[in-house]
Formats: sequence, C-alpha cells, structure tokens
Amino acid sequence: MYAAFRSIGAYVPERILTNADLEKMVDTSDEWIYKRTGIKERHIAAEGEHTSDLGVKAAELAIERSGLDKSEIDMVVCATISPDYFTMPSTATLISTKLGLPPVTAFDISAACTGFIYILSIAKAFIESGMKKNVLIIGAEKLSAITDYTDRGTCILFGDGAGAAVISATENKDEAIVEVHTAADGTYADLLMTPNGGTGSVHDSLDAESSFMQMKGNETFKVAVRTLTKDVKDILAETKIEADSIEHFIPHQANYRIIKAVGDALKMREDQVVVTVEKYGNTSGASIPMAMNDLYEAGGLKKGEMMLLDAFGGGLTWGSALVPFSPK
Ligand code: ACO
Repeated sequence: MYAAFRSIGAYVPERILTNADLEKMVDTSDEWIYKRTGIKERHIAAEGEHTSDLGVKAAELAIERSGLDKSEIDMVVCATISPDYFTMPSTATLISTKLGLPPVTAFDISAACTGFIYILSIAKAFIESGMKKNVLIIGAEKLSAITDYTDRGTCILFGDGAGAAVISATENKDEAIVEVHTAADGTYADLLMTPNGGTGSVHDSLDAESSFMQMKGNETFKVAVRTLTKDVKDILAETKIEADSIEHFIPHQANYRIIKAVGDALKMREDQVVVTVEKYGNTSGASIPMAMNDLYEAGGLKKGEMMLLDAFGGGLTWGSALVPFSPK
C-alpha cells in the first residue's frame, strides 16, 4: 500500500497586520522588514478565534476537495506550536469534533515550522503499514498568541493561518509520496524557544502568559541555510530526482532570503519556487500547506506534478519531502 497526497485546503484570518502597523508598535521600518525578510503583511486571528477554528476551516476545504465523505477520515494529526490548550485536549481532537467526525485517532505533534513535513511522514507511515486509510493532516497556528509585540526581532516575522491535506491509501505507485526526511537536533534548542511556558522554565511551571517565542535570528538564519541546503540535496540524490524536473519547490515561508539561498544552491528557476512570505509572513507549521493552497487555487498545481517541500524550525527540526500531487 502507498500513500497519495489527494487534496489541499487553507484558511487565513481576515485581519491584516502590515509593516506600517508594526512601525507604530516597535522601532522598525517597512523598508528594513521587507529587505531583510521579504514580508509586507501577515494575517492575525480575531479574539476568540482559536487555532482549532483556523484548522477546521482549512480541513473542511481539504476534505471537500478530496471527494471523501467525512465519515471516511480515520485519523487526524495536527502540527502546531500554538495549540488551543497547552497540554490537553489536543487541537487535533478539537478539530475532529468540530468537523463532526466520528471518534477517530487524533493527536498533535510539536516540530515548529517543520510540523507539516513531520505529519506528512506520520500519515505516510500509518497508511503504508495498513493501519489507516484516509488521514487528515493539519498545520494550524495562532502565533500572534505567543508573539511578543514589544520585540522587534520576532514580532515582524509571524502570522496566523492554517493549511490541511488529505492523504489516502492507494495501490498505484505513480501516485505515491516518494520520500520524506525528518530530523531534529536539540543542541540548537536555545536558538528558538518559548522558554517560560513549561516545566523546563525557570519557574518550573506552566505559565501561558509569558510563553512568548524568543529567537537568536541571525544564528538561526545561518544554520537554516546550511542544514536545508544539505537536506534537499540529499533527498534528491537518494531518490535520483533532478532538481530541474521538479515542477514546484514549496519551502517553509520564513524569510525570502533563506528561500532564495536554498533555491539558488539547487539552481532552481524562479518559476519553480513558490513564495507567499510577502503576504502571510511566517505561519510555522501552516506555511507550506498555505503556500501549496495558493498555488492550487491559482490553477498552478496539476495532477501528477512533483512538489519538493522543505522546512526548518525550533527544536531545531528540519525536513524535506518529494510528493506528487495526486487528486482522485
Ligand atoms: N527593525 C529594524 N532593525 C532591526 C529589527 C527590526 N525589526 N530587528 C533587528 N534589527 C536590528 C538589530 O538590532 C541589529 O542592529 P545592530 O546591527 O545595531 O545590532 C540589526 O538589525 C541586524 O540584526 P540581525 O539579527 O543580524 O538581522 P538579520 O539580517 O539576521 O535579520 C531576521 C533578522 C529577519 C530575524 C533573520 O535573522 C531571520 O529571518 N532569521 C531566521 C528566522 C527563522 O527562519 N526561524 C526559524 C523558523 S521560525 C519557527 O520555527 C517558529
């Protein structure tokens, strides 16, 4: 049995936070933000609009486009670092109930910006083992809730949103997800973390209010470019797929300069590289499916086309995937 990437959906909240808005909040400028990151604006969830609500809207679209009935979904996995609740219940459980699914396996994973690639690998493994048939995977983030809007080094980067996909069992090898790489290295843990929100914090307690993200941006940037470039070169070499033959390179949307550096190292043409960081900023686990959905809705993603995904985030975690788009 193989795992096929059947459908994609996404949701972005209405409210937009522009660079001009941020100029009024911290000592920064539109010019600095755009030049250093490629970001112009990001979307922010409304008060009372939770991560699970964003995830539900993305998931509804993905399920509808898969052609499946909701009752056929047998597992829900959500990648998030901004869950509705810090420990329980999981955001995946809330999403599956809000969707009206029957009781199914549902859980969250924490791999920061690499979250979508991690849940893709989980869906693939469950399907290939024969344990599940139709897995709904969701990257959903309300990063505005864990962003310190007095810290100009981080608040200019992050936004809210969600993306979802349905991965289904198939016997047709041509439809199959080719390969997924995932990795993590805790020696870089202090580069990017929420240091005050758990039992490892100085308070040795859960303290949601002070659990804002902290980042050593410049060091993170350098490790990101080095690690991602090696990982995508490795996955292409292992699968004997030429970068030139890939229709869509859909990287995690953290910073245009990281995307450009990795794309250049692979000698990717501009028309291969999907860039949405300008309008959404960094939405962590949601960024890859949101970018993919933009491409799909613009009519640019067709059956059989090969996607190369890559991501890098807190942990540190990283990963890549080679995935043909395989709608029914
Ligand atoms: N506006 C104006 N100036 C600023 C701002 C700002 N918003 N932020 C920092 N600066 C200043 C710094 O204070 C510094 O000033 P100094 O030279 O006087 O000391 C100067 O700009 C340069 O700062 P750097 O941090 O070296 O800037 P850099 O070019 O590295 O850009 C950035 C910073 C955008 C954060 C970049 O490092 C980056 O994108 N890093 C990677 C982020 C990432 O990919 N994270 C992983 C995924 S996120 C996740 O997992 C949730």
